[in-house]
Amino acid sequence: MSGSGAQRGIAILGSTGSIGRSTLDVLRRQQDHFRLIALAAGCNRGELASQVAEWRPSYAGLAGVSNDVRWPSGPEVLVEAATHPDVDIVVNAVVGAAGLDATLAALHAGKRVALANKETLVMAGDLVAQAACAGGGEIVPIDSEHSAVLQCVTGRDDGLARLILTASGGPFREWPADRVRSATIEEALQHPTWRMGSKITVDCATLANKALELIEAHHLFGLPYDSLEVVVHPQSIVHAFVEFHDGSVLAQLGFPSMELPILYALTHPQRLPDTGVRRFDPVAAGPLTFEPVRADVFPALVSGIAAGRAGGTAPAVFNAANEVAVAAFLQGAIPFGRISETIDRALDSHAPAPASSVEAVRAADRWAREEARQSVRQ
Ligand SMILES: NC(=O)c1ccc[n+]([C@@H]2O[C@H](COP(=O)([O-])OP(=O)(O)OC[C@H]3O[C@@H](n4cnc5c(N)ncnc54)[C@H](OP(=O)(O)O)[C@@H]3O)[C@@H](O)[C@H]2O)c1
Repeated sequence: MSGSGAQRGIAILGSTGSIGRSTLDVLRRQQDHFRLIALAAGCNRGELASQVAEWRPSYAGLAGVSNDVRWPSGPEVLVEAATHPDVDIVVNAVVGAAGLDATLAALHAGKRVALANKETLVMAGDLVAQAACAGGGEIVPIDSEHSAVLQCVTGRDDGLARLILTASGGPFREWPADRVRSATIEEALQHPTWRMGSKITVDCATLANKALELIEAHHLFGLPYDSLEVVVHPQSIVHAFVEFHDGSVLAQLGFPSMELPILYALTHPQRLPDTGVRRFDPVAAGPLTFEPVRADVFPALVSGIAAGRAGGTAPAVFNAANEVAVAAFLQGAIPFGRISETIDRALDSHAPAPASSVEAVRAADRWAREEARQSVRQ
């Protein structure tokens, strides 16, 4: 990218969140290469106002319902920001199923989608691939594990045999199963290595996040589930291992920070120098350890992988039931152990159908949310 001259236009969806704010930190250091065109947030008017004051984008809006006349509001704001004619790259950092339409619209409009919103690929991976094909857009992952895989395979895409995604193990890695089931909100929000929004932090505590990431990896890299694995790596220094057919294994390493994967998603397959990223030091990184996942203690991981294998609308049901259950847990309505039970009840009563249209995916998503809401009320 260096020396290419033209600045690329950026839209950030979910600009007020953890990934959204990290993206702005990256852009502050890379203003010769990128121009911020559009900002879209959920409900946080105060944060959006200060971002608009600093960046003066051509477009800003709130996807939540708002009577604030300074900006357009409503769910269509995400699609408007994502398809703005001056935007080349859409950073989708919205949390949850709300990000789907904007991803599809951006791909149909031929944009690059730098995707943090993993729920999009989980719900509708095949439809996302079709949208990219039809519109000429492309997905580049922001998730650190998928960015690691992409960085390892770029330029050597042949012979990919197996991916091993790392998981920190979350705050309950060493807890006995009984204690995990009654963990409090404060305990679930204490992630040992990453600072993130509350939904993904709880997903890391249940390990549902790793199931979402395996489904995401299946769609991004085209490997069957038998070739996708998870290993617990408490230091979060190695982000993924990539094994090739001849048995050779590559890994990508770095101190935990989302700024490097965000910048790489903007520049792939090239790289830009970035003085803001903490340089790697193998001694400071300390001993790197790996251990198996305790699947019996983290049933949401097992259910999510089963949903991925079942395919069709099952991953959308897994995702929607998880979103409802995590929100209920964060409101204090259900204990931690009920998150996985809520997911399982929805999956057990669901007959997967082909995820052949956005309508089919949306219908499964609505059905699963209602099922999960009833479950959490009981
Ligand atoms: N944080 C990380 O390190 C990390 C790493 C890998 C992947 N991810 C993924 O990136 C996504 C964002 O994570 P995060 O940690 O940045 O979450 P977060 O801090 O909770 O931020 C979520 C963003 O989405 C917006 N939002 C929420 N509901 C919305 C809706 N219905 N419509 C439109 N916008 C809405 C929020 O807006 P308001 O705050 O204005 O309401 C906020 O800007 C998730 O899919 C997560 O799994 C995150």
